[in-house]
Amino acid sequence: MTTHAAIIGWGKCLPPAILRNQDLATFLETDDEWITSRTGMKERRISHVPLGELAYVAATRALACAGLSADELDLVVLGSTIGDELCPNVASGVARRLGARNAGAMDVNTACTSFLYGLSSATALVRTGVIRTAVVIGAEVPTPFLDWEDRNTAVLFGDGCGAVVIQASDREEGLLAERLGCYSDARGALDIRGVGARYANLGLPYGHTRWNFDGQEIFRRAVVGMALAGEEALAKRGIGPGDVDLVVPHQANRRIIDAVGKRLGVPPEKVFVNVHRYANMSAATVPVALVEALEEGRVRPGATLLLPAFGAGLTWCAHVVRWGERVTPLAKSEIELPPCDRTGLELVNELRAKRARFAGAAREFVDAAQPLLVPVRE
Ligand code: ACO
Repeated sequence: MTTHAAIIGWGKCLPPAILRNQDLATFLETDDEWITSRTGMKERRISHVPLGELAYVAATRALACAGLSADELDLVVLGSTIGDELCPNVASGVARRLGARNAGAMDVNTACTSFLYGLSSATALVRTGVIRTAVVIGAEVPTPFLDWEDRNTAVLFGDGCGAVVIQASDREEGLLAERLGCYSDARGALDIRGVGARYANLGLPYGHTRWNFDGQEIFRRAVVGMALAGEEALAKRGIGPGDVDLVVPHQANRRIIDAVGKRLGVPPEKVFVNVHRYANMSAATVPVALVEALEEGRVRPGATLLLPAFGAGLTWCAHVVRWGERVTPLAKSEIELPPCDRTGLELVNELRAKRARFAGAAREFVDAAQPLLVPVRE
C-alpha cells in the first residue's frame, strides 16, 4: 500500500505592526495609487521579533491544530531565504523552542518557493518511510535587510510565517504531484548583495545589503514558470485545470497572480488572493494563504488545490494537493507573540536610522566590494 503524507495541521503567525502604503509615502517618493495599481498591495506587516520566533508560534499553532505534541515530530523543516543566522540553522532553534526532542531539523532555501520545496522534501521522506510526522514552515522576515531608501524594492515586501503538519497516511491525500524548475540563466535578475560568505571576513560592513533587481524580467519569467509548472504538475495526475477547486499561488504581485490564473484557464473566483493584506512575504506567502483559505471556508473536504510559486534563482514550481476530510482545527494554541508597543512606521524608521548610522561605512563598502560584485563565474 502506498504511503501518503496528509496535511493534518496548519497555523500562521503574522506580526501585529502594520505598515500601510501611506506610511511608505512619508519617506519614499511613492504613493498609494502607484503601489496599488502596480502590485495590488495595500499594507504589510513589520516584525518586532526575529524570524525564529514567528516560526515557533506558527509551528505551535499547527501542532495544536493537528492535535499533536512536539515530541511526536520526526522532522522540522524551515523554508526561508535569509534566516536569523546561517550557522546553526534556524530549524534547530525552532525544534529546541518546540521541545521536538525526537526530530531532525533542516533549513531549505529556494527563496520564495522554499516552503513548497520543503513540502516536497518532507513528503518524499514520509513516502519512503524515513519519517512519519513533520512540520513544514515557510517563514520570512525581509524587512531588516531591505534598503528602505529604494522605492523599487522597499514597497514590495512584508514579514510573516505559516506552517503545516504532515503525517503518514494510507489515504490518498496531501501532496499528489509537483513540478520543480529553475530558470538558472536568469538568476542575476534578483540578488541581495552584502550577505553570504562571499562578503565575510574582508573588513567590509557585512550585512549592509543592496538589492539588484529586474522587476520586469522577474514578472515575465514568473508568469510563464508558474503557469507551466501548474499545467505539468496537474498533467502528472491526469487532472485538468477545470478540476482544480482552488489555486493558492505565491503572492508577489496581484497582476502576476491574475496573469497566471488566466494562462491556466482558472476563473478568478477560484484563485485565492491576500497580497493586499501582507505584500510579498516570500517563503511565507503560500502557507499563510493556505491557512487563510481554510479560515475563510474556501477549502472544502476532499478539495483539489494547486499551489504555484516562483522565487529568486529563479526557482519555480507548482504543487497539487488533495485536502483531507477535516477543514477545522482539532484544538487552538493559546500561544502569542510578545506584545509590540510600536507602529509599523516606527519600526521601519528604527531600521532606517540603524542603516543611516552606517551609511558612511556603507559607501566604502560599495567601493571595496566592487570586485566581489562582478558575477560569480558561470
Ligand atoms: N513608487 C513610484 N514609482 C516607482 C516605484 C514606487 N514604489 N517603484 C518604481 N517606480 C518607478 C520606477 O522608478 C520607474 O520609473 P521610470 O519609468 O521613470 O524609470 C517606474 O516606476 C517603473 O515602472 P514599471 O517598470 O512600469 O513598473 P512595473 O509595472 O514593472 O512594476 C514591479 C514594477 C511591481 C516591481 C513589477 O515589475 C513586478 O511585480 N515584478 C515582479 C515581482 C517581483 O519582482 N517581486 C519581487 C521579488 S520576486 C519574488 O517573489 C522572489
